[in-house]
Amino acid sequence: MRIRDVVVDPPLVLAPMEGVTDLTFRRLVRQIGGCGMTFTEFIPAAGLAQNHASAKLTAQFDPDEHPIAIQVYGRDPAMLAEGARVAAEMGADVVDLNMGCPSKSVCANSGGSSLLREPDVARDIVRAIRAAVTIPFTVKMRTGWDPAHKNAPQIAWMCQEEGAEAVTIHWRTRTDLYGGVRELDTIAEVKRRLSIPVVANGDIVDAESARDTFARTGCDAVMIGRGAIKNPWVFREIGQALFDGPAVVVDADEKQRVLLGYFDSVQVGRRTETGALGRFKKIAKYFTTGLPHGDLFQRAVLHAMSADDARARVIAYFDRLRQFERGDLDAFEGLDLERVAG
Ligand SMILES: Cc1cc2nc3c(=O)[nH]c(=O)nc-3n(C[C@H](O)[C@H](O)[C@H](O)COP(=O)(O)O)c2cc1C
Repeated sequence: MRIRDVVVDPPLVLAPMEGVTDLTFRRLVRQIGGCGMTFTEFIPAAGLAQNHASAKLTAQFDPDEHPIAIQVYGRDPAMLAEGARVAAEMGADVVDLNMGCPSKSVCANSGGSSLLREPDVARDIVRAIRAAVTIPFTVKMRTGWDPAHKNAPQIAWMCQEEGAEAVTIHWRTRTDLYGGVRELDTIAEVKRRLSIPVVANGDIVDAESARDTFARTGCDAVMIGRGAIKNPWVFREIGQALFDGPAVVVDADEKQRVLLGYFDSVQVGRRTETGALGRFKKIAKYFTTGLPHGDLFQRAVLHAMSADDARARVIAYFDRLRQFERGDLDAFEGLDLERVAG
């Protein structure tokens, strides 16, 4: 996929996820490989515009992290334009407008998905950002506010006519939050109507769901969020299956290496042990969902009082997982991870 001159190859994109896709997590994904483009977490445009340290920090990326989109949100067109300008100045390849966030605090300020209910405000914002930056500008949205008002095809069309160069559509509506019944026809309709690239998003977790989404929507790329926290190898796995990418082998050794490597990076990047531990627990929970006795592991890590405890519990769990993978079906018997201390 190309967003003007920005090549997204393979057409597999890491979703913006607040509290997850910071620089450390994106490094992990890029180190594993297979991802064609990354997004920052959403950033208040006002924070960038007013040079707030936390907003500038969230927008940071590595010199070799390209292509990258910096995502902004807000409600004031002038502020969004200025935030977008700062993002471009920071060297982003793409600036993306968040029109999908369902969170109450973002919607209360008329940002995120609430813009789907205010097409005139949305148009003013898109216009203002378009006038403010010369780099490619994209918009990410849900299919509508609720199932009775799926206006993404109209809103996406407006975005295109006002100069947006790609759109990402998450199949859910605002009121679906993270539930709802998977519905891809609206994304397919957006794709039929628009000439700019369309990225499809929502519950893509493996090669099967990626293939299905490409086939049913005709989309140009797929974006993966939670599936990449659970399995950061997902881009390579999809790439191997759909685009003849290199083979991927992910065993307990590799999983432990990546998870502990992530923990090390989080500790380097955080000022306090509690902060690092909190972030690690969040990622570790997703990472081990679906693994044998992953729930045991998650509880034990959640209850870890120190980084050393958490690390010891990770090692103890993966030791047993290795035995299990070698065929010892009783490997987890008698294991009390909550008692393992570092
Ligand atoms: C923890 C979390 C944080 C998120 N933060 C953002 C965000 O900052 N900006 C955004 O556009 N979407 C955000 N989203 C939505 C995702 O980008 C994505 O649209 C959604 O999770 C559906 O994709 P998935 O099923 O692959 O996870 C977030 C989702 C999660 C789970």
